[in-house]
Amino acid sequence: MEQISFISYQNKEDVPKNHLLSAAKLYCRIWEEEPWNEKWSIEVASDKLLGVLSKEGATLIFCLIKDEVVGFTGGKPIVAEELSGRVNEKLLNELNNVPLFLVAEIGVDSLQRGKGIGQKLLLKLIDTANADCDNLRFILHTDITAESAKILYRKLGFKDTHSVDLSITNHTYWIR
Ligand SMILES: CC(C)(COP(=O)(O)OP(=O)(O)OC[C@H]1O[C@@H](n2cnc3c(N)ncnc32)[C@H](O)[C@@H]1OP(=O)(O)O)[C@@H](O)C(=O)NCCC(=O)NCCS
Repeated sequence: MEQISFISYQNKEDVPKNHLLSAAKLYCRIWEEEPWNEKWSIEVASDKLLGVLSKEGATLIFCLIKDEVVGFTGGKPIVAEELSGRVNEKLLNELNNVPLFLVAEIGVDSLQRGKGIGQKLLLKLIDTANADCDNLRFILHTDITAESAKILYRKLGFKDTHSVDLSITNHTYWIR
């Protein structure tokens, strides 16, 4: 039986270099897949992962098997204004003055999918954020064709607002 563990970080300085490198390699592999087709260098991927921890209340979580990162998620508290130019006026007004937490990243190694890791990662992120703030609403955006992600989000109570991301028009915003 593989030894799976989850580690949460709140500060960039606490993320061990070897785990960051492993996560950055995974990040590059995952976002090269359909429908994302994104190419990132290891350096930029590392910056993006650590960039999640740019605010108080932010959390980055890695799932490890032995010393290899096989999954990651992360997010941070935001205010509705930060979504200006991304969501339409109606949604922006609805979210005004609502305590919000943006799920910024989630990915699981293709060889480890379907084993509950994505769900555990997202639940841990939600639990950690909820421990810091009452009545939090969680928001994320995803590609309209990202079927596995949409199944996971629905299972955890997210609903598609069908509000299209104004700068990535094949993405819609989901809220929980
Ligand atoms: C989305 C993703 C993180 C899910 O990770 P995962 O570890 O495979 O998810 P889980 O195993 O926890 O699955 C959660 C639930 O969704 C279901 N599910 C996940 N992928 C599925 C699929 N392709 N088909 C059917 N059901 C699926 C699982 O069966 C499970 O439901 P269950 O508990 O009722 O069986 C993973 O597919 C991934 O990394 N995809 C590429 C990156 C990505 O799309 N990220 C989201 C960007 S917004």
